[in-house]
Amino acid sequence: MSNRFEGARVVVTGAAAGFGAAIARDFAAEGARVMVTDIDEAAAEAVAAGLNSALSFGLDVTDEARTAEMAQAVVDAWGGIDVVVCNAGLPHRAAPMIELDTDDFDRMWTINVRSIFLAAKYCVPHMPPGSSIVSVASIGGRRPRPGLTAYNASKGAVITLTKGLAGELAPGIRVNCVNPVSAPTGFDKNAVGLDKLPDEVEAAVVAGIPMGRRARPDDVAGAVLFLASDDASFLTGVGLDVDGGRSIG
Ligand SMILES: NC(=O)c1ccc[n+]([C@@H]2O[C@H](COP(=O)([O-])OP(=O)(O)OC[C@H]3O[C@@H](n4cnc5c(N)ncnc54)[C@H](O)[C@@H]3O)[C@@H](O)[C@H]2O)c1
Repeated sequence: MSNRFEGARVVVTGAAAGFGAAIARDFAAEGARVMVTDIDEAAAEAVAAGLNSALSFGLDVTDEARTAEMAQAVVDAWGGIDVVVCNAGLPHRAAPMIELDTDDFDRMWTINVRSIFLAAKYCVPHMPPGSSIVSVASIGGRRPRPGLTAYNASKGAVITLTKGLAGELAPGIRVNCVNPVSAPTGFDKNAVGLDKLPDEVEAAVVAGIPMGRRARPDDVAGAVLFLASDDASFLTGVGLDVDGGRSIG
């Protein structure tokens, strides 16, 4: 394991579980100081307790005042912010779009898109040249399939927001996103109401992924760390497909 992020001040949202917990863990393993944030404050605290030089903060990413307080807490602790990972996000229950409640449609934008606007608004003023923002979008934002249309549209907005913001913040701050394919995290429970996909559904999902499996949190964390690292110092406005080839065809 290298130390690409020695001393870096990193914020991760939705970091108590799934992709976010793996992202926080991998940054810490490479020397970063990590602010582990999540709506589930106790779970965020438990993740941070297992890492070197990590703090935790209860943050519902839909809460503007709390987002501002979180950014200030990082500045108070470490003097600035070098990496912001906007990972928190949720699907709605899978269904044809016209059957979705209007409130659920609005919720997609608030949790998945507005949250990134807020994170940027309150963190960017504290980010020095050379820092970066990485958001977790979805391959569904580029290649939507039926059932998660409002969710996929929100992730399409994350990809567009990433590109637009990258243009605004260059050359000082790079802005990129990753587009993961389906992974067995808490996402499944929120999308279909089950802890584990039924075998036939799992098989159909895997059949659409040339690499022959769903994504793992490590796949996503590896791509996020790459985009945040100096190895990607000329990459901005990029949406990196972490999809095992799902979008090839
Ligand atoms: N798992 C997948 O199939 C998949 C595929 C593509 C993209 N994604 C995206 O990856 C990101 C992480 O999802 P995951 O798969 O790890 O899901 P997960 O459900 O395992 O983890 C999500 C985390 O976000 C937290 N969270 C929920 N609402 C929040 C809020 N309002 N404010 C702050 N934190 C909140 C949860 O407590 C949880 O810790 C999401 O943006 C999701 O849309 C997931």
